[in-house]
Amino acid sequence: MCGIIGITGRDDAIDGIVAGLKRLEYRGYDSAGVVANDGRDLRVVKRAGKLEQLTGALAGQPLASRAGIGHTRWATHGAPTDRNAHPHVEPAGRVAVVHNGIIENYQSLKAGLGDVRFASDTDSEVVAHLVGRELETMDAPDLFDAVRRVLPQLRGAYSLCFTALDDPETIVVAKYEAPLIVAHADGVGYCASDVTALIAYTRDVAALRDGQVARISPDGIEVTDAEGALAEPHRYTVNWDLDAAEKQGYDHFMLKEIFEQPQAVLDTLLDRYTAPEPGSSPRLHLDELRIDELDLARIDKVFVLACGTSLHAGMVGKLAIEHWAGIPVDVEVASEFRYRDPIVDPHTLVIAISQSGETVDTIAAASHARDQRAPVLAICNVVGSTLAREADGVLYTHAGPEVAVASTKAFTTQIVGSLLIGLYLAQVRGRMYATETADIIARLQQIPTALERVLELDGEIRELAERYKDTDYTMFIGRHAGLPIAMEGALKLKEISYLHAEAFPAGEMKHGPIALIEPGSLVVALASAGHVFAKMVSNIQEVRARGASVLALGTDGSTAELKEHADHVLTLPEAPHELAGPVLSVVPLQLVSYHVATLRGEDVDQPRNLAKTVTVE
Ligand code: F6R
Repeated sequence: MCGIIGITGRDDAIDGIVAGLKRLEYRGYDSAGVVANDGRDLRVVKRAGKLEQLTGALAGQPLASRAGIGHTRWATHGAPTDRNAHPHVEPAGRVAVVHNGIIENYQSLKAGLGDVRFASDTDSEVVAHLVGRELETMDAPDLFDAVRRVLPQLRGAYSLCFTALDDPETIVVAKYEAPLIVAHADGVGYCASDVTALIAYTRDVAALRDGQVARISPDGIEVTDAEGALAEPHRYTVNWDLDAAEKQGYDHFMLKEIFEQPQAVLDTLLDRYTAPEPGSSPRLHLDELRIDELDLARIDKVFVLACGTSLHAGMVGKLAIEHWAGIPVDVEVASEFRYRDPIVDPHTLVIAISQSGETVDTIAAASHARDQRAPVLAICNVVGSTLAREADGVLYTHAGPEVAVASTKAFTTQIVGSLLIGLYLAQVRGRMYATETADIIARLQQIPTALERVLELDGEIRELAERYKDTDYTMFIGRHAGLPIAMEGALKLKEISYLHAEAFPAGEMKHGPIALIEPGSLVVALASAGHVFAKMVSNIQEVRARGASVLALGTDGSTAELKEHADHVLTLPEAPHELAGPVLSVVPLQLVSYHVATLRGEDVDQPRNLAKTVTVE
């Protein structure tokens, strides 16, 4: 979604802002703009389209100033045009704003301003007008105070960043339900919507909390609450560096991230487990836990809440928790949860899964559950993110920064995180012998090596992608742990190649979807060896009998039989545990989608209409 960066105290502030916007590109956007503030004018350059349009325009009119702010916009209110791009300047030309989020009451705020001309169709512009009006009424105009006076009028979610002519080297920012990071290094003040934009300048950052406002200048940063009392943001040091956020020779971030999965899984498993000393029990460790283990032992129901790919990881988590910990689990799309009447109480555990930790639907669902006193455990990749801070416990997936919009290494590490939580709940509830836990942990440690073997299939998968790249409609089928992967495979294919794809529980085919099968249809079947393998073979035969081509994903133990029934079989190594199978079987589907999309000439890392972090409802 929208990206924000502000810099004050550098002669090349605008170059720094454009470089920061470049790093934010992965979030998804459809226009971009900057404003330079040299104390005489607010000079705005903004363009619809990709950053190249903006940099092209800037080449013709270079902006020199020691302070400025920039924005990449993902259109919500108003089409992605030059005039709707941010920054927005109020009519007197005194204040500019960039905004991430939605101002829900913008129409009534606009109406309250009377007969004023607006230069855009956005919800955001009204905020610049309101702050400009406040400045006009002040004897000693002060941007920070003016912003604080306006904030109580706003409804919705925002991270806002302002610059004003009265005090050109001061940037003012405000946060409510949309992320905002501030930092100060070597006499330069920074703000951004995520740390990726700042990683080239500093790793020591602070995340503002909801309701906080900050004044950023070359001298330092002052953070207050809404009433103006000094407040403490969440300070932390980013545990990855610039290198991790670069492509490192790969053509796309997505491919790099697919190939990083063995390491990401290894890192996620690292130091999770203390082997039993003679006479003591083994312990599994989360990263942060602010829930009494006795309370966890009394949990009688689990809700897994997440969106998109993270939801599919949660579906695997359900199987693990029910199998190992013996607790009933519901997996639910986070955006639906708070609009019905979920039965939640202090004995309900909510597991919220989010790569970014900033997905507003997931955060809102988790906080709805917390309001009903349910403890929340987050599985999160971004350290210090909103969800991670608000949850009662966090298991971080140590996947490193995920830049491609299509999630890959975050997904496989989320599955590993879900398995660990399943084991952890079994541990606190005394459901497993120490030797059993130790055995499963030892098997999970074999996943990275097995993943290396799966990645060796890349050449064969590319050839398959050549063959199937123009298939208009693909059906993915699976059962048990194969079903979430079928769903993830279909999502990956549609989001980056824009080809129609759907997933079904293989057993559901006869109840309707099989009507779609005709000669030439493509069915991708998840058919690893395991307790549902024989059923999958029957389902494959049913679609084959109706003319479908079948691409089956099998394992060493199932391939021989699959070859009799499928047009092509990809053979994966046997998973070290049936519940770890999805970590392996999703990888060929990620690679198929990647190759199909690149062969079709699509923008793999930034697919159309999508954003990496969905910070609006
Ligand atoms: C798909 C994808 C999305 C995200 C979803 C949730 O490849 O990336 O479906 O999984 O938007 O995002 P997070 O995990 O950041 O909450």
